[in-house]
Amino acid sequence: MSPKAQSQTQKPERQKITIPKLYEMKASKDPVSWLTCYDYPTALLMDRAGVEMILVGDSLGMTMLGYPTTLPVTMDTMITFTSAVTRAVKYAFVIGDMPYMSYQISKEEAIRNAGRFMSECGTDAVKLEGGVRMTSVVEAITNAGIPVMGHIGLTPQSASQLGGYKAQGRDAETAKRLIVDAEALEQVGAFAILLECIPAPVAKTIHERVKIPVYGLGSGKDVDGQLMIVHDMIGMFERFTPKFVKRYANLSPILLEAFSQYHKEVKREKFPQPEHFYHMAEGELERLKRLIKP
Ligand code: KIV
Repeated sequence: MSPKAQSQTQKPERQKITIPKLYEMKASKDPVSWLTCYDYPTALLMDRAGVEMILVGDSLGMTMLGYPTTLPVTMDTMITFTSAVTRAVKYAFVIGDMPYMSYQISKEEAIRNAGRFMSECGTDAVKLEGGVRMTSVVEAITNAGIPVMGHIGLTPQSASQLGGYKAQGRDAETAKRLIVDAEALEQVGAFAILLECIPAPVAKTIHERVKIPVYGLGSGKDVDGQLMIVHDMIGMFERFTPKFVKRYANLSPILLEAFSQYHKEVKREKFPQPEHFYHMAEGELERLKRLIKP
């Protein structure tokens, strides 16, 4: 192919998603596609597919590490997984999720840990859970020059306090508290808010009342973009499936079949076949036999 023809068929280089771009997308009502991701090969594929935001969530404690909750996840674990993702991503806006007890103890520790995501992993922002009660921390991290996304509604790190993993804001009083939380986060400088598992009309009201982008996970359509946990949408997390999940692929049976087939072929000596072997140069085997002759 001539260089001219080649340049005509090449896709234009995509500009990395930034906060001004996210604000532009909000203004033009262009919904953001957002997924969680925890590893390099999957991040490469998401980036190629055009997914606009990636969250390296502490949900990796459950989806990747098999813990019953997100609480055992440490900063060091988050740094390892987050750097794998940022090494792959050229286009999407990448957010590091602050794990349990990395921001609750003091503002100083919160700034230090948020800074680790930015300096050691090269993330574009961090996310932390909580509304009004976390405003001083959000403000401190923002003042340190680090963009912070607030996360309200079902906040998994406080699932015990919330009485389990269930939708929040289903009555007027608790819905009002979520609105107050969202307004408080905007006030202290959060660049965006994630609403998890709240009724669609409450999400719509919050979206109408704050100016910053509002994204949803199980919170209806009237928001600026949608998040989904990757393992839920590709059928790789079988412990439970929340109501709001749409499954776009079912990889578990495909992988199970591949592993079972491999196991059987090894047992029956059907794998490997000669096409999988390395061969020696002509005459070398005979030479070797002479060399090792007892
Ligand atoms: O850790 C995570 O993936 C999250 C989502 C549940 C929002 O915080």
